[in-house]
Amino acid sequence: MNKTPVVTVIGSINMDLTVTTKKIPNKGETILGESFSTLPGGKGANQAVAAARLGAKVNLIGALGDDAFGTSLLDTLKIEGINTHGISIEKDVSTGIATILVSDNDNRIIVTPGANYHVSPALVERYKELIMHSDVVLLQLEIPLETVEYTTHLCKENHIPVVINPAPYQKLPRNVVDMTTYLTPNELEVEEMKNDYRLDAIKEKVIITKGSAGVNFYKDGAEDVVPAFQVDVEDTTGAGDTFNGAFATRIALGSSIEEAIQFANAAAALSVTKFGAQGGMPTAQQVENFLQERSI
Ligand code: RIB
Repeated sequence: MNKTPVVTVIGSINMDLTVTTKKIPNKGETILGESFSTLPGGKGANQAVAAARLGAKVNLIGALGDDAFGTSLLDTLKIEGINTHGISIEKDVSTGIATILVSDNDNRIIVTPGANYHVSPALVERYKELIMHSDVVLLQLEIPLETVEYTTHLCKENHIPVVINPAPYQKLPRNVVDMTTYLTPNELEVEEMKNDYRLDAIKEKVIITKGSAGVNFYKDGAEDVVPAFQVDVEDTTGAGDTFNGAFATRIALGSSIEEAIQFANAAAALSVTKFGAQGGMPTAQQVENFLQERSI
């Protein structure tokens, strides 16, 4: 596989305000946390960084506020080698923020979208040339649904595969689901999907990430599980994003679904061994070495 895969991500860019704590406070309770960090995040940016570190040529279409967080996030994306021409800087709007509590090997996240809600169909239309030259387009749901719908139509018309990570969960119009190549919910999101669709009818496009329990998918009518790699966990924030960025990159390269999941699983396992959403995202060589160590 020697071509450079092109992945275009349309999604959120946030500053993650992360507190680590031994316990989660109860209603009305004040507790002392352990540490506080300001780190680059946002599902769109995270997935873009994951794909870029794994060797994809990445375009990111998104929006930032005209504030200090916006300036700093734009710099970090450029350092990762991501094409940031499709990122609009919105006047008098705040950059997206995620308030994250990390405790007991898991995280709880509240996103305040800010500029991310300015990622409009018009913005996508302005940069549609990037989409036309992509091998895969990757979306999440921290931007307006109408933009997700618009992009999916554009991709369908131009025969470009689309991966939607339905997080945070919202019901997608049925036609969007039908036009999507793969949907990648986690265990909680898939439970919500079951209320909205007959999963049986779309199961071949649904890839369920279950953290340390592995990844479930269907092929030729049969369910299969790719087990997770057991590693020492430092921070699970961004593990799903690493999986999505890696999965999209491998699909863009023409890998089989099993191989793409295996590779993405390894990338996600490595990502949780370091702190922060993007802190542990590996390079392709690190993933290959890890797969070899684990004799896959
Ligand atoms: O998936 C993790 C990400 O979710 C964080 O980086 C946060 O910004 C939210 O978008």
